[in-house]
Amino acid sequence: MQSLTVHLHDFIRDVRLTEEEWNTAIEFLTRVGHITDDKRQEFVLLSDTLGASMQTIAVNNEAYKDATEATVFGPFFVDDAPEVELGGDISFGAKGQPAWIEGTVTDTDGRPVPNARIEVWECDEDGFYDVQYDDDRTMARAHLYTDEHGEYRFWGLTPVPYPIPHDGPVGKMLAATGRSPIRAAHLHFMVTAPEHRTLVTHIFVEGDPQLEIGDSVFGVKDSLIKRFDEQPADTPTPDGRDLGDETWAKARFDIVLAPADA
Ligand code: BEZ
Ligand code: FE
Repeated sequence: MQSLTVHLHDFIRDVRLTEEEWNTAIEFLTRVGHITDDKRQEFVLLSDTLGASMQTIAVNNEAYKDATEATVFGPFFVDDAPEVELGGDISFGAKGQPAWIEGTVTDTDGRPVPNARIEVWECDEDGFYDVQYDDDRTMARAHLYTDEHGEYRFWGLTPVPYPIPHDGPVGKMLAATGRSPIRAAHLHFMVTAPEHRTLVTHIFVEGDPQLEIGDSVFGVKDSLIKRFDEQPADTPTPDGRDLGDETWAKARFDIVLAPADA
């Protein structure tokens, strides 16, 4: 509290805060509070768009050897997403280009981590997560477990850029400061395994123009940008699945978990 107060006072002196600006700030925070309920967390969105979430992640997930970097959690995780078998399809009918994602989970000494729990979630090709529809659908999210070699694979969707919820005060703040609400295309992962640090991260899509423009919550790390190689229609799929005349993409994400006490 002492540090917060010192920085707050420094800020007020630095910008010579006017009483009108003080009032505007109070009104803004009041609106952030009023729109927040058990479905919508505008304070977290404010923290995300101010880069405060990423800064907190940075101080709490210090780099450890070659462990995979963490990034923002976001508001769209759901606790009880269905399980899919290895090679299963997490889209459950959500619209988008099919993407085969595979990789390994290892520790920082290169040893496979069998039975690691991998949660994955993403938006559909229209830029919406299932929970943003009002029909209780469960799509484009699931959990699965690595096999005895620490390997995993599943069908998902090629991620697309989408806007964070921007119909509230945070959206107004972004507009007032000339910022875009768009997030770079990504696929969320949360990986848990006993004795390892839980990893909350995403993979981003190499070549996505939004990576140049910027991510509205500052979540991009170069190490998390992966190739989604587009395969022409009729290219045989890794599991023999027949996609008819659809194109599909292939991506690899090898995950390295830090030890729990790192
Ligand atoms: C997301 O990636 O799902 C997300 C992250 C931060 C704010 C809004 C959405
Ligand atoms: Fe997201």
